[in-house]
Amino acid sequence: MSGQGGKLAGKVAIVTGAASGIGEAIAALYLEEGARVVVSDLPGGGLAERFGSRADARVVEIDVTADEAPARLVQAAVGEFGGLDVLVNNAGIAMGKAFEETTDAEFDRIMGVNVRAVFRLSREAVPALKARGGGSIVNLASIMSGTGGPMLSAYATSKHAVLGLSRGMAVDLGKYGIRVNALQPGSIWTGMSRPFMNDPAFREYWEKKAPLGRIGDPEDVAVVALFLATDAARFVSGAGIAIDGAAGVNF
Ligand SMILES: NC(=O)c1ccc[n+]([C@@H]2O[C@H](COP(=O)([O-])OP(=O)(O)OC[C@H]3O[C@@H](n4cnc5c(N)ncnc54)[C@H](O)[C@@H]3O)[C@@H](O)[C@H]2O)c1
Repeated sequence: MSGQGGKLAGKVAIVTGAASGIGEAIAALYLEEGARVVVSDLPGGGLAERFGSRADARVVEIDVTADEAPARLVQAAVGEFGGLDVLVNNAGIAMGKAFEETTDAEFDRIMGVNVRAVFRLSREAVPALKARGGGSIVNLASIMSGTGGPMLSAYATSKHAVLGLSRGMAVDLGKYGIRVNALQPGSIWTGMSRPFMNDPAFREYWEKKAPLGRIGDPEDVAVVALFLATDAARFVSGAGIAIDGAAGVNF
């Protein structure tokens, strides 16, 4: 499905972290379904090569933690495409490090990218979403939003915070018709997980942990992000949605 007839025809979205993995899959699916999309990622990550030639995509290369990032991104959507309906806060970083070795700078960086930038960009997006009579914010939380994991204390902290932030935003923004939900993927094949997955024991653990018997693909997450962007999800807000092959409930 594409263009006029797509499920997102007429909608404008921002997707951060769109150069690779889950964000790239979400941006590609939104475009395929007729949305116009501001795609964003760090400079030099291949974003312009991937999406730059499309009339329905605008590339904004910026670090989401930059002071000016929220205004740049929302202005790109409103200025180039006339408004904003969907914000996908996907950009994120992971770090495998023992708790007692994690430095202040590492902790602050992971919270800055995974949490503070989500807070700031969402706040900036509210007036534009209100101006359309409502919209959808989709935040990338994690299976680690509800549990811990070895070498992942800072990451798990940040993803618990994303889930809490999403719930708080859903409560405060409901009166504007703005829905806010958190996606909680399990282990998904991307650049983020590949270094962990190179350890056969780690990979086998996650394949066995998921009763559906495999590691997920970015497209498994993108289809849920598509649903949340459509009006079919009109009464879904404040949810944390597991996309993990039941790994999170398999003890
Ligand atoms: N892969 C998994 O198993 C998994 C599981 C649960 C949740 N997640 C979450 O999904 C989201 C996407 O991760 P992914 O697995 O696709 O990883 P990825 O590394 O493939 O993609 C993340 C993207 O975010 C971008 N990014 C990182 N820091 C940035 C910054 N400061 N400014 C702008 N862009 C930045 C990266 O350049 C990259 O393109 C993340 O929030 C991640 O925590 C991933």
